[in-house]
Amino acid sequence: MSLSVVILAAGKGTRMKSALPKVLHPIAGKPMVQRIIDTVKSLGAEQINLVYGHGADQLKSALEHNSVNWCHQAEQLGTGHAVQQALPHIQDSDDVLILVGDAPLIKASTLQRLMEVKKAADVALLTVDLEDPTGMGRIIREGDQGKGSIKAIVEHKDATPEQLAIREINTGIMIMSGADLKRWVSQLDNNNAQNEYYLVDVIAMAANEGKHIQSAQPDTAIEVEGINNRVQLARLERAFQREQAEALMMQGVTLFDPARLDIRGEVETGQDVAIDITIDVNVVLQGKVKLGNNVSIGANCILIDCEIGDGVVIEANSIVQQAKVAAHCVVGPYARLRPGTVLDEGAKVGNFVEMKKAVLGKGSKANHLSYIGDAEVGENVNIGAGTITCNYDGVNKSKTIIGDGAFIGSNSALVAPVEIGKNATVGAGSTINKPVPDNNLAVARAKQRVNDNWKRPVKKS
Ligand code: UD1
Ligand code: CA
Repeated sequence: MSLSVVILAAGKGTRMKSALPKVLHPIAGKPMVQRIIDTVKSLGAEQINLVYGHGADQLKSALEHNSVNWCHQAEQLGTGHAVQQALPHIQDSDDVLILVGDAPLIKASTLQRLMEVKKAADVALLTVDLEDPTGMGRIIREGDQGKGSIKAIVEHKDATPEQLAIREINTGIMIMSGADLKRWVSQLDNNNAQNEYYLVDVIAMAANEGKHIQSAQPDTAIEVEGINNRVQLARLERAFQREQAEALMMQGVTLFDPARLDIRGEVETGQDVAIDITIDVNVVLQGKVKLGNNVSIGANCILIDCEIGDGVVIEANSIVQQAKVAAHCVVGPYARLRPGTVLDEGAKVGNFVEMKKAVLGKGSKANHLSYIGDAEVGENVNIGAGTITCNYDGVNKSKTIIGDGAFIGSNSALVAPVEIGKNATVGAGSTINKPVPDNNLAVARAKQRVNDNWKRPVKKS
């Protein structure tokens, strides 16, 4: 028996007031429907059927790298009608897991629990008790206490005052066999307050056939909360960020304020021993970020797809993207490491230094106001303030190579392609466009003149 998934995502999401389909709005940097797809993939789903309607082109291009069955629902006639669009892809013997596309925080562990429940039942239904169940489908059970077996789901708009008092609600997430689903969906009608084909009506059909309907609950209600507007989107974003922040703290990371860290991707920290990473406020970690032990990240830093070694200090207001920073380097404040930057052990990049596609060797320093692009800088090199690698002639990019132990005087322009030898020195203010051999001094600037009988002009009366 294989697991088939149906994700309902054809709704327009009118209340988002957006040109972007609702299910493509991101949570922690990832479209919410992609988050759901990734979660179900982790369960080993054999096939994913995505029911779509509005924003087809945007959806298809945003999700093109997923292998899903695209099930078009031309008109949104209700959740039951939506599921019907996926039925051609479903085998009778499949277990069919149905999910809504706008509740992005559902956890694999909860779905696994629901799958366990399904093993001993005909229908497994994920329900939750809410303080305020307004708008949700209510779970109707046998017996006066509302504790017996499940009989039906009644939508808010169709419920009696007594039913409205029920706080156990339908999350929209359920599992049943392909055969049962097909039989029941074909019997749905739209005789209800919204004139929609309600998927939830299959529950009463199951009960009437004497089928065994069992429920499971998520760990927290936030997992099944749907997003209809941007207020809810922001609330779920914060809840998710809080959860990620707490997980990091449990791993040994000090967060100066867990409410002011945003993780839009995955953070990997060092293992075993003490981790002792400290992260100051307003830090954004995006993509895949790997942090070694004893790393310290200052306020307002953005780290994107990068690897940071043990003991590295990243001072405030620095941006590190697709860069590799080896152990004990110091970066910033106000440094920008662009894609392809590599800092070897103990290197230092200070304020207002921009690097791109460049290696800064062991113990080398570029402490102030520089641009180092398309460059290979050896070990223990000192790059003076204001040094620029002139890597671009307007058409092509060229490389600058600087040997170990070289000293580049302040405000030098290194016109690439050019090579500075080992232990060579470049005098401050030089424009270098020819190779400088090892151990030599190169000075390329206008000579200073001193005029000893010069007089300052005086103001005319
Ligand atoms: C639905 C459930 C309700 C449950 C709630 C949980 C039904 C009839 N009601 O109500 O019991 O408490 O979810 O959030 O199932 N969709 C389509 N095509 C359609 C209609 C909907 O793809 O024709 C999709 C929507 O894009 C959405 C999901 O199905 O992702 C749920 O639809 P929505 O209209 O939000 O249902 P609710 O009224 O919230
Ligand atoms: Ca909804």
